[in-house]
Amino acid sequence: LVIVLDFGGQYNQLIARRVRECQVYCEVHPYNMSLDKIREMNPKGIIFTGGPNSVYKEESPLCSPEIFKMGIPILGICYGSQLMAYLLDGKVETAPVSEYGKTEVAIRKTDSKIFEGVSPETVCWMSHTDYIAQAPEGFEITADTPVCPIAAMEDVSRNLYAVQFHPEVLHTVEGQKMLSNFVYNVCGCSGDWKMDSFVENTIASLREKIGDGKVLCALSGGVDSSVAAVLLSKAIGKQLTCVFVDHGLLRKNEGDEVEAVFGPDGPYELNFVRVNAQQRYYDKLAGVTDPETKRKIIGEEFIRVFEEEAKKIGSVDYLVQGTIYPDVIESGLGKSAVIKSHHNVGGLPDVVDFKEIIEPLRSLFKDEVRKAGLELGIPEYLVYRQPFPGPGLGIRIIGEVTAEKVRIVQDADAIYREEIARAGVDKGLGQYFAALTNMRSVGVMGDERTYDYAVVLRAVNTSDFMTAASAELPWEVLSKVTSRIVNEVKGVNRVLYDCTGKPPATIEFE
Ligand code: XMP
Repeated sequence: LVIVLDFGGQYNQLIARRVRECQVYCEVHPYNMSLDKIREMNPKGIIFTGGPNSVYKEESPLCSPEIFKMGIPILGICYGSQLMAYLLDGKVETAPVSEYGKTEVAIRKTDSKIFEGVSPETVCWMSHTDYIAQAPEGFEITADTPVCPIAAMEDVSRNLYAVQFHPEVLHTVEGQKMLSNFVYNVCGCSGDWKMDSFVENTIASLREKIGDGKVLCALSGGVDSSVAAVLLSKAIGKQLTCVFVDHGLLRKNEGDEVEAVFGPDGPYELNFVRVNAQQRYYDKLAGVTDPETKRKIIGEEFIRVFEEEAKKIGSVDYLVQGTIYPDVIESGLGKSAVIKSHHNVGGLPDVVDFKEIIEPLRSLFKDEVRKAGLELGIPEYLVYRQPFPGPGLGIRIIGEVTAEKVRIVQDADAIYREEIARAGVDKGLGQYFAALTNMRSVGVMGDERTYDYAVVLRAVNTSDFMTAASAELPWEVLSKVTSRIVNEVKGVNRVLYDCTGKPPATIEFE
């Protein structure tokens, strides 16, 4: 185990993730965690993160200098490096020149344990206004830049290492190498941790925490809530109740697929409640065309349905949420203008009587959640499921939602997904789906005039879903999908492809 002490930087979880990529288990903890607690956890190494403060300001987060006497190797990053210098009587000052962005760093001690195999001139990501003006006694300067005389320093005898730059971000070209050098060469970790240990440890600690308490989970069938539910099921079995709301806006067969995995005939021990609220949603959405109003109705109705089920179950001790780390960041930002009001289970706590929220995946990134899912034996089609918005097909049907339109978009989307998979072009795509325009146009079929809907196909390449480019799908695939949709899906006589990126469009249509 390596622990990351969080001093408020933006990349804290990323550091932990990079360490886990070295097959070494890593967790983030608050900077003021007690030394006793740290001793109890018995980590092989500690990493201090960056942070927005200046060490010499009164209100800045500090830790006890006793930490340096525990004999545990420590790596300080950015603010963490300055903190190490400050607490050990070095000097930290405002730098005459701040450095932001990619910076060439010269490694002065090429045989340093953390720079093993790193080029003598290496590009690193800097982001600082303060710097270490004087290293503490016993430290050797191991790297610098033209304006930062101490870009890295170390005291080998005490196993203390510090870097002013951020090895955890990809812009630091050899950052991963440096972090792996720290955990292997300095901390002596063996690198035998795998996702199975995370799964095992999480199950054990959930079991211990929950005891004989009752737990409620809102299951959407998406990968995050599915993995969270299976972890809980393995930990506490029937003390867990999963409520799955079928709002009639799911992809084709999705409700049944979720039930097959989590229901009474599936492999997991839990109480599964499927609420068939399809008609209820269609009634509420009848005649509504405004996208934000539709989103609001779907979100509110979800809360209402869930509340009714929760009442039947009575008070529970814990509520499970499948929050993953990127959700934590996104909700933390919250400053940008509302483009779309996202729907997820964030609104639930008000309506359910419970003591505490459990978020077992809070520290994981999406690909790590998928690995955990495979480890838990969740079927691959669930684990690798396309991202699907909370309001479901409700925002992929432009204009009014009706049961008939849901059927059209479900069938068209199923054909599209099937053909994409068959052609093997799904691997590189960030997201792809069919949507239904509210445009009808004239066509001809078997000598008859038709006046039917146009389906639109969308496929985007994206890594962060904040920006996206329309994907160049092979023409053969598009024409095959088109011909199947117009032939097999009643009510459609035209298929369009969306060539727009995000921005200016968004990935979904509403
Ligand atoms: P947009 O359309 O905003 O979508 O470019 C970006 C990503 O977010 C997904 N999305 C949602 N996910 N609740 C969700 O959980 C929502 O309300 C929601 N709206 C959009 C969308 O599928 C894409 O992956």
